[in-house]
Amino acid sequence: MRAIWPSLPIDPTVYSFTEQKFEFEARIPVATIAVIGTGYVGLTTGACFAHLGHDVICADIDEHKIARLNKGEIPIVEQGLDKIVEEGMRSGKLKFVVGAINASKHAEFHYLCVPTPQGGDGAADLSYLEIAAAEIGPHLPANSIVINKSTVPVGSTRVVAKKLNRSDVSVVSNPEFLREGTAVSDFLNPDRVVIGSEDQEASIRVGTLYAKVAAPVMVTDPVSAETIKYASNAFLATKLSFVNAIATLCERVGADVNDVVLGMGYDTRIGKQFLRPGPGWGGSCFPKDTIALHKIAEDAGYDFSILTEVLNVNTQQFDRTAAKVLTALGGSGAGKRLAVWGLTFKAGTDDLRDSPSIEVLTRLQDSGVEIVAYDPAIDAPPRELPDIKIVADPYSAVEGADALAIMTEWDEFRWLDFDQVAEAMNNRAIVDGRNLLDRSVVMRRGFTYVGVGR
Ligand code: UGA
Repeated sequence: MRAIWPSLPIDPTVYSFTEQKFEFEARIPVATIAVIGTGYVGLTTGACFAHLGHDVICADIDEHKIARLNKGEIPIVEQGLDKIVEEGMRSGKLKFVVGAINASKHAEFHYLCVPTPQGGDGAADLSYLEIAAAEIGPHLPANSIVINKSTVPVGSTRVVAKKLNRSDVSVVSNPEFLREGTAVSDFLNPDRVVIGSEDQEASIRVGTLYAKVAAPVMVTDPVSAETIKYASNAFLATKLSFVNAIATLCERVGADVNDVVLGMGYDTRIGKQFLRPGPGWGGSCFPKDTIALHKIAEDAGYDFSILTEVLNVNTQQFDRTAAKVLTALGGSGAGKRLAVWGLTFKAGTDDLRDSPSIEVLTRLQDSGVEIVAYDPAIDAPPRELPDIKIVADPYSAVEGADALAIMTEWDEFRWLDFDQVAEAMNNRAIVDGRNLLDRSVVMRRGFTYVGVGR
C-alpha cells in the first residue's frame, strides 16, 4: 500500500486499505473536520468520523437543533446514532456549533452536507450549497479541503470552487451511499468509498480519513464521482420499478413474485438485494435523484428515456395500490373506515418525505374514506394528510375498519395477534402493500388477502 500511494494514478483506480489496516492506523494523524449541515447525512458523517478518531465540529444554522444536539438529543430516528454521538461528545471529539464559520475556521477538512432539494425544473437546487461555500470561503485555513457530500449535479465541484474563491483550497467530491435507518453501519462498513478531484494530493488526504474503514477506496475525477452517485441511486430505482412491473405481470399470469425474485436473486449477477416489490418506491433520495439525473442528461442533449419509464412505472404502482385498497373497501370509500399500518417511506426511519404510503393515501383522500393510521415512528398526521387520525397502537387502528392497508414493512406488524385484529375489524380485508404477512395465517382467520404480485 505504501508503494501505491505516491504513484497514485488519477485515472479511476480501485485499491483497498484492508490489508494494511493496522500499519495505516499507526501512521494516520487525527484530522480536524468541520461538517456543515446536521441532517441525516451530516450528523451521521460527523458522528462516524469522531468514532473513527477524528476531531469533528458539526455546524447548522438551526439554533434549536444545535441546542438539542448539545443536550445529547438526536432529532432523527437512526439506529446506533445516539450511541456514537454520546461517545463522541463524552470524549470531546464531537462538538456542535451554530454557524458554518464557527466550525470551519480551525478545520483542515470541510464537509458540505447541506440539502440539495429538487428545483422547479427537476434539477437539484444548489442554493444551500452555494451559500455555505460563499460563507466559509474567506475563513478557511490555508491548504484546507472542501468536500461535497451532498448529492450534487455533475460539475458542482466547480461551482463550489468558484463560490469559495480560494486558489489555495481544493474541492473534492466524496458522495455518500448511506441508507436511512442503517446509515451508521453503512458509513462504517461501506461497499466502497468514492473520491473525485482534479487535485490528486487532496484525494489522497481525503482517502486517509477513511483509513480505519475496511473498504475499497476509489479515486477518480470529480465529474465521474458525481455521476457514480446519481447512477447508483437511479440504477437501484430502475431495479425496483422493474420488480414492481414484474409483480404486475405475475398478478396477470398467476405467478408468485416472491418465488420469481428469489429465483432471480440466486443469480449472483442480479443479486438478492433490492428485489422486494412494494407500493412504489420513495424517500428523500430516489425520486429526487432519478428526476435530477434525467434532467442532467437532458441538459447534456441525451433523452434518458429509461428513466422516464422508471418514474412512470412508479406512479402507476401508487395508482395500482390505491385501486387495490378501494376494491378491498367494496369499490367506494364513502362511509367506510380504512386502517393503515405504516406511514414512513420505509421501516427503521421516521422520515415521511416522498413516502409511498402518503402517495397512496393521497389518492384515496377524495373517496370519502375515513383513514385511521398507526406507525411506530409517527405521532401526528403528515402535512399532506391533515385529516387522517393517528393512533398509538395497531389494534386501535383496525377498530371498526372495513379494510386494512399495510404500507410500510415495520417488522412488528408480522407478529401481531391476528385473532384480535379479526375480532376488531368490521370487514376482514387486507391489502398488504409490502408482502409482509404470511397470507395463510390471515386467510385462515377469514381475511381476504391481496398482496403485491401474488
Ligand atoms: C437511498 C440509497 O439506498 C442509498 O444508498 C443512498 O445513499 C441514499 O438513498 C441517498 O441518496 O442519500 P434511502 O433513501 O435511505 O437510501 O432508501 P432505500 O433503503 O434505498 O429505499 C428507497 C425506497 O425503495 C423505499 O421506499 C423502500 O421502501 C423502497 N424499496 C427498497 C423497496 O420497495 N424494495 C426494496 O427491495 C428496497
